[in-house]
Amino acid sequence: MGAAVESEDLWKTYDGQNWVLKGATLTVNEGEVFALLGRNGAGKTTFIRIACTLLKPSRGTVRVLGRDVIADAGWIRRRIAVVPQEGRPSNLSTPWAHVYYYLIARGMPRSEAARRASEYLEAMELWEVKDVICGNLSGGMRQRVYVAMAMATEADVLFLDEPTIGLDPISKTTMWSQIRRASEEGRTVIVTTHNMEEAETISDRVSIINAGRIVVTGSVEEVMSAVEYDYRVDVEGMADPQELNAYGPVRRIGDRFRVLTTASGARELAEVAVERGWRVNVSKTSLEDAFILLAGGHVEDEAR
Ligand SMILES: Nc1ncnc2c1ncn2[C@@H]1O[C@H](COP(=O)(O)OP(=O)(O)OP(=O)(O)O)[C@@H](O)[C@H]1O
Ligand SMILES: [Mg+2]
Repeated sequence: MGAAVESEDLWKTYDGQNWVLKGATLTVNEGEVFALLGRNGAGKTTFIRIACTLLKPSRGTVRVLGRDVIADAGWIRRRIAVVPQEGRPSNLSTPWAHVYYYLIARGMPRSEAARRASEYLEAMELWEVKDVICGNLSGGMRQRVYVAMAMATEADVLFLDEPTIGLDPISKTTMWSQIRRASEEGRTVIVTTHNMEEAETISDRVSIINAGRIVVTGSVEEVMSAVEYDYRVDVEGMADPQELNAYGPVRRIGDRFRVLTTASGARELAEVAVERGWRVNVSKTSLEDAFILLAGGHVEDEAR
């Protein structure tokens, strides 16, 4: 299987001073769902804009389907579709018109454009409102119009920058199914998300990006194994959270403290908690815990 997107030592600065991407190297395989994770400002959208040929790299190379984003931008644009983070459909036009005319503009015959518009508006649960102007739709519906446009192209590579932001739980899972379906049909999907459940559910592989650097790339299991703590222990009701630091990194969550620790640490801490009368809950670490450790959360500081 080839590479859908390959970046090599990619650097980007907008102002010639501050580096937003600092040597980002990653490969997205053809046909996979790949999630780019990172805190606000980590450089995800910048990476996507470069891969979509909307922005030039300052240094390094990016290839999409084997072609260079600068030398072969036109070739690449015909084979990709993008849902930008700030993308909003025009208020005066309907979902049907958005999808249909977008496909026509990309050179699709009218009958095929009409067939695809129906199929994807249905799939994104927009069929009932297909003739309502977007200005009269809810925010989540408008978001789905953009995704329907991109999906309906059946482009080889889809870039979805936070596609499920603002969607209700049911629409979100519908979107997840559509993203998986695109991948099962052989298309590559690159998404960004802050929703770790989403990343775990839909992606074959993820990268965590921290301040412009890729800190880890792999399957969710591989990312989790990069973290030395297998358990998390939530503790409530202790007088002094300082003593939790002995077991591993600690983070305050509301009025609880979450400790990441090893199996023996979890056992020991659970015993201590029972003796002292603290409320305690032990579970396996999740992708979210791994993310907070690897994406630059200062866990030790927050407990102080
Ligand atoms: N057009 C621009 N001009 C100058 N700086 C920019 C521009 N776009 C983004 N930046 C800066 O680049 C950095 C990375 O921004 P980017 O939008 O890539 O982050 P992100 O990972 O997508 O964050 P979020 O999760 O909030 O969407 C930020 O510090 C941002 O301020
Ligand atoms: Mg962004």
